[in-house]
Amino acid sequence: MDIVQSSVPDTVAYQAMSHEQLLETYQQLLLQNSSLEMRLHKSEERRRAFIHILTDLNMVNRKLHDQRKAMIHILADYEHDRSRLAAQTERLHNSRRALMHILQDAHQSNLRLENSRKAMIHIMSDLKETSGEVQRRELELREKQEQLVQAGKLATLGELTTGVAHELNNPLNNIGLFVGNAIDLIDLGMADTDPERILQELDSAMRQVRKATEIISHLRTFGRAASVSREPVILASVIENSISLMQEQLRLRQIEVQLHLPVQEVVVMGNEIQLEQVFINLLTNARDALSEVVHKVITITCEIHGPMVDIKFGDNGPGIPEGLEQRIFDPFFTTKDVGAGTGLGLSITYGIIKEHQGAIVIENHPGEGAAFLIQLPLNADEL
Ligand SMILES: Nc1ncnc2c1ncn2[C@@H]1O[C@H](COP(=O)(O)OP(=O)(O)O)[C@@H](O)[C@H]1O
Ligand SMILES: [Mg+2]
Repeated sequence: MDIVQSSVPDTVAYQAMSHEQLLETYQQLLLQNSSLEMRLHKSEERRRAFIHILTDLNMVNRKLHDQRKAMIHILADYEHDRSRLAAQTERLHNSRRALMHILQDAHQSNLRLENSRKAMIHIMSDLKETSGEVQRRELELREKQEQLVQAGKLATLGELTTGVAHELNNPLNNIGLFVGNAIDLIDLGMADTDPERILQELDSAMRQVRKATEIISHLRTFGRAASVSREPVILASVIENSISLMQEQLRLRQIEVQLHLPVQEVVVMGNEIQLEQVFINLLTNARDALSEVVHKVITITCEIHGPMVDIKFGDNGPGIPEGLEQRIFDPFFTTKDVGAGTGLGLSITYGIIKEHQGAIVIENHPGEGAAFLIQLPLNADEL
């Protein structure tokens, strides 16, 4: 522009110019004009380019705007994801901590388990030793039990002796009387005239001798060490035998015995002498329990229930003091005066009944009496 202004003279200047000068100026003007046209063209091109660039820029701008919006969306999503992730991380962290705890616990449990296992091994070896010891003890106990049975029998025998002395006294007196009669009759010379009388007296004496022998032989069988043999035993005859052995003692104390036996024969597999000892023990205890009672009654019942027989020995004594029901089966437990009771009766009874695969239970009515119920399996052959 500067060039145009400086190189083109104004109208006044043209009027003063010569033809050559005007030509030259015209030439210059032409040159200037074409140069200007060139520049105009170029600037037009630039303008168009510029407009292109502007539209491009606009588009880019729009895209950028869209992208910004998308970016904001993405950012929001990202923020959302981030917080979710944070929560998950927190949860994961908690789980991890819990897992750590569990692992620690598991480890401790493992340790404890290992200790328990070791303890168990110890216990097992102890158990092995103990069971050996128990076996030894059991053997010892069985021997002791046998000794105890024997001791108990001897004690009962001692008690029985008093009664038996009574019972033997009677036949011996009678024998004395009958033999004395026979001697008198012979002295009177009746041997020839009335031999029947003498024979009668001697016969009576003989019967008394047999009675005495029977009593003694019974005591001998009872005193013998109990053989472990098992054979079919007729229960009624064992019960009756036991009562007959105690008869004198019961009679002297005015003790009534009520016996209820079943019609059919009851047979159990067992040992007669041991069972007799059981019944004598129960009768002896009932006898002692009745010492202060006015009308003394012992009731013995025997009933069959299925494959078992129930034998009950009851009395109308004072019963067993409450709280002692379990202790009375203990060896040497007695409430009787020193010398009066050994405390062995029921413990031996219990042992014998167990040996017979039976059971013994108390039916106690304090103040009204006690009963001992024995349950024994019947002999299988009889069923
Ligand atoms: N029929 C009974 N009535 C009341 N008490 C009894 C009876 N039978 C046993 N007892 C009690 O059981 C205890 C133990 O009996 P036992 O073992 O036979 O030993 P002991 O007769 O030598 O005392 C007795 O001292 C007595 O207290
Ligand atoms: Mg007793």
